[in-house]
Amino acid sequence: MPDYPQLDWEQMYSQGVAPWNDPAPWPPLEGLVIENAAPGSKILEIGCGYGSDAVSLDRIGYKVFATDLSETAIARAQETWAHSGVEFRVEDALNHADETRYDLVYDKGVMLNFANIAERQRFAGSLRARLTPDGRWITVLGNVDNLNRDETGPDKRGYPRLSLLETVQAVEPDFEILSVTQEQFGSLADNSFMAWTVVSRPRRLPIEQVLRELPARRQPD
Ligand SMILES: C[S@@+](CC[C@H](N)C(=O)[O-])C[C@H]1O[C@@H](n2cnc3c(N)ncnc32)[C@H](O)[C@@H]1O
Repeated sequence: MPDYPQLDWEQMYSQGVAPWNDPAPWPPLEGLVIENAAPGSKILEIGCGYGSDAVSLDRIGYKVFATDLSETAIARAQETWAHSGVEFRVEDALNHADETRYDLVYDKGVMLNFANIAERQRFAGSLRARLTPDGRWITVLGNVDNLNRDETGPDKRGYPRLSLLETVQAVEPDFEILSVTQEQFGSLADNSFMAWTVVSRPRRLPIEQVLRELPARRQPD
């Protein structure tokens, strides 16, 4: 399978092109976070764009750090949400110096942009390193099963999408998957496609060890 084409995020934001952006917070987010993180715990959002999701979590009492590759997006988030408690900063998820351990990491529309399986697995591995041992990762990404090719919409714009298999291939080596659901990505005409939402936690045992031990476990005593 060929690599996905890569977008120049900073260029898009600096030209005011952010068709994925929804001014309202993603509706399922609050409920998912409440189910998976104790009140007041520390949350990291990766690829926060203009920041409305991060701010919604700050409003319900979490300590929120929100990061993005794009200086333009972060500058706008800092200006728009100057009175919120969210700490916004420019950061490349694959290349950063932050050693904080978070209770929950959230990204929406980010992992699917990495070019291939190896890059997505690298992204997932880097997130595991940022979580507490019992932390949670919530990732949300466009789903290939609803390409409305004959309609004017996101698919003609060339948004990347992932199959569930590609999603699981990226997540499972470093995480135990707790749930997979389908949700709507956004509420606008340009972003109202369906998305996989995967909640997972860091693996206790390396997947290679789990798979090695599995046949032995299947044998009768
Ligand atoms: C499709 S947008 C989604 C933005 C926002 N989460 C939303 O749902 O509206 C993907 C975002 O990920 C950011 N991004 C892409 N690669 C990144 C990386 N390596 N580190 C941090 N942010 C990244 C982009 O700048 C962009 O803001």
